[in-house]
Amino acid sequence: MVSNELNIVWHDRALGKSDYFHRNGHPSLVLWFTGLSGSGKSTLAHAVEEALFEKGCYTYILDGDNMRHGLNSDLGFSEADRRENIRRIGEVARLFVDAGIIVLAAFISPYREDRDRVRALFELGEFAEIFVECDLATCESRDPKGLYRKARSGELKQFTGIDSPYEMPDAPELVINTACSGVDECVQTVLAFVEKRGVMKRVKSEPRTSNIELA
Ligand code: ADX
Repeated sequence: MVSNELNIVWHDRALGKSDYFHRNGHPSLVLWFTGLSGSGKSTLAHAVEEALFEKGCYTYILDGDNMRHGLNSDLGFSEADRRENIRRIGEVARLFVDAGIIVLAAFISPYREDRDRVRALFELGEFAEIFVECDLATCESRDPKGLYRKARSGELKQFTGIDSPYEMPDAPELVINTACSGVDECVQTVLAFVEKRGVMKRVKSEPRTSNIELA
């Protein structure tokens, strides 16, 4: 593939996802946790990552607050900035999936269209939208960072659920209600889902069929 304008040529890789699959013993996957601030996305994603790590899976967390310290530190919370935030994270997630990793992405990602655009980057079965459902009143009562209080007082603008919208997923692969269930139960539900996607069934490492020739 050649982009004539920029003189950029795509370099095909010798290694593919199936190579990583054979080495890692599990397929790569994106678990995309979406929901209001304070709904428990990060808590859940981190706990699921730990559990998968313990099982010997290759994992990585992409977390909204953390990514906004680095790669996305130039972005705020306007609609355009949130769209760009999610676009970049989608591309980063794609790189990790190419590298055979199970990605746990925890972002408010308030716009349906943006989440669908990320989904479209992946092959069927590679991307799972997990709606971390929790009513606003409960999120607000948790208020772990004191941001709802600031948003209610007008000190913080464009806060999701207060003066910025959140569009619920139409057809998520999984809905986890953190207002009704404890963390452990939620983690088990996600792990059961992941297992159905073939992640726990660690296959025995087989010799890789490669098109690389060593000199
Ligand atoms: S997203 O909307 O662009 O997907 P993202 O998940 O990256 O948001 O970041 C959300 C985190 O940023 C929240 O958990 C919260 O700690 C912090 N934050 C700061 N300002 C806002 C705001 N106006 N709206 C929502 N979250 C905010």
